[in-house]
Amino acid sequence: MGVEVTVEGLTKSFGSQNIWRDVSLTLPAGEVNALLGPSGTGKSVFLKTLIGLLHPEQGSVIIDGTDITQCSAKELYEIRKLFGVLFQDGALFGSMSLYDNIAFPLREHTKKKEDEVRRIVMEKVELVGLAGAEDKLPGEISGGMRKRAGLARALVLDPQIILCDEPDSGLDPVRTAYISQLLIDINAEIDATILIVTHNINIARTIPDNIGMLFRKELVMFGPREQLLTSEQPVVKQFLSGDRFGPIGMSEEKDESVAAAEAAMQAAGISGGGTSDDFSEIIPQVQPNPGMPVRKAAIRHRANVLNMLHTLPENAQHAIRNSIAEEDRRAAESPETSTTLVALSQTDFSDPNAVYTGLPGGPDGVYVAPTDVHGNAQANQATDVVTRPDLAKTAVAQPAGDDAFTQPIDTSAIETAIIDQSKGQGSNQA
Ligand SMILES: Nc1ncnc2c1ncn2[C@@H]1O[C@H](COP(=O)(O)OP(=O)(O)OP(=O)(O)O)[C@@H](O)[C@H]1O
Ligand SMILES: [Mg+2]
Repeated sequence: MGVEVTVEGLTKSFGSQNIWRDVSLTLPAGEVNALLGPSGTGKSVFLKTLIGLLHPEQGSVIIDGTDITQCSAKELYEIRKLFGVLFQDGALFGSMSLYDNIAFPLREHTKKKEDEVRRIVMEKVELVGLAGAEDKLPGEISGGMRKRAGLARALVLDPQIILCDEPDSGLDPVRTAYISQLLIDINAEIDATILIVTHNINIARTIPDNIGMLFRKELVMFGPREQLLTSEQPVVKQFLSGDRFGPIGMSEEKDESVAAAEAAMQAAGISGGGTSDDFSEIIPQVQPNPGMPVRKAAIRHRANVLNMLHTLPENAQHAIRNSIAEEDRRAAESPETSTTLVALSQTDFSDPNAVYTGLPGGPDGVYVAPTDVHGNAQANQATDVVTRPDLAKTAVAQPAGDDAFTQPIDTSAIETAIIDQSKGQGSNQA
């Protein structure tokens, strides 16, 4: 299972320039997360801080029980082996072929023989669609190909945490869709915790379980994707619609006179260049390809979300209920197309012991641990029991018998049940 990454009160500056402050969030183990934010808000700096390449002045980054802001260089070296990182610029070695670039982490961190290295490298080369280009130098290929080579290199160690800085930049929309699908499939296969930094709204709408956004040196939001997509916050709405009218300016901040002039233009019907898409209409999340294992994180994520549902804004709750009903409907109508949706629809989420990890965040509309809201865990569990059964069981009837999915949830039960189902031993086909 992927590794939870907990960031607490993180602050980073370069000299007198503060980049962001007091950032707290948890990337739940094995879930897929996206980080949005205007250019220059420090998203890449955030990724580099997560792997200890940059050092924050304050706060902690806990990975697998170790605070990497405090640990020794040796511990950090070990922790880094958990990561696969796709840097924004690809960060390939210019004098090495793509093959050697992709083989680099294997040669550096493992004792694998060259034939094993070749097998793994060629498998990843194939996966990212670069077969035939492996002998070229980074300078001899296109920007999008470099990006895909960087992704192949990020994947060779089967990392438990994958950080992707703008995996779509330089890629055409179709290749972007393939890369996004690849990340979901990898998530299903190895249950890695994924963080994608992106400006791509299509990715944000369809790929992550959770989305966060950095703006004006703060994490303005981090929560289930439906929460950000239905947010009424002007900065979020502007960012999603890609409009120049709104609080985000060319150099981030806008002064009041400019904002007033823009409001007048907007009122007069002049376009700010944005789309009028309704982002609160949630698009179904991309599912692993048929043949892939059930995405375990999807089940943990739903359990988490249901546990915290009552703490979320009303429109986010509404969107999440709709998402769940829609996913269950799809599972019932075409169970053969997604084992993950089937597993979700057959899991009993009404158990009060359903997994809850707590995802602290910043102000407005963030994950708030139910214990903080209700004072104690008991009261909170009681609320969950009352509010949840109508949500989880919609389209698909529970199968009879002792199918593992009908048992109350705990993490180990989920893992076992899913492993069984992947092997075709569960009686889950509706
Ligand atoms: N090593 C560094 N030394 C000094 N300043 C830096 C360093 N790295 C980043 N910065 C500054 O930190 C700020 C945030 O940079 P960062 O690259 O994280 O932005 P970003 O959100 O990733 O932007 P984009 O969307 O354009 O990639 C910028 O002002 C940048 O100049
Ligand atoms: Mg960046």
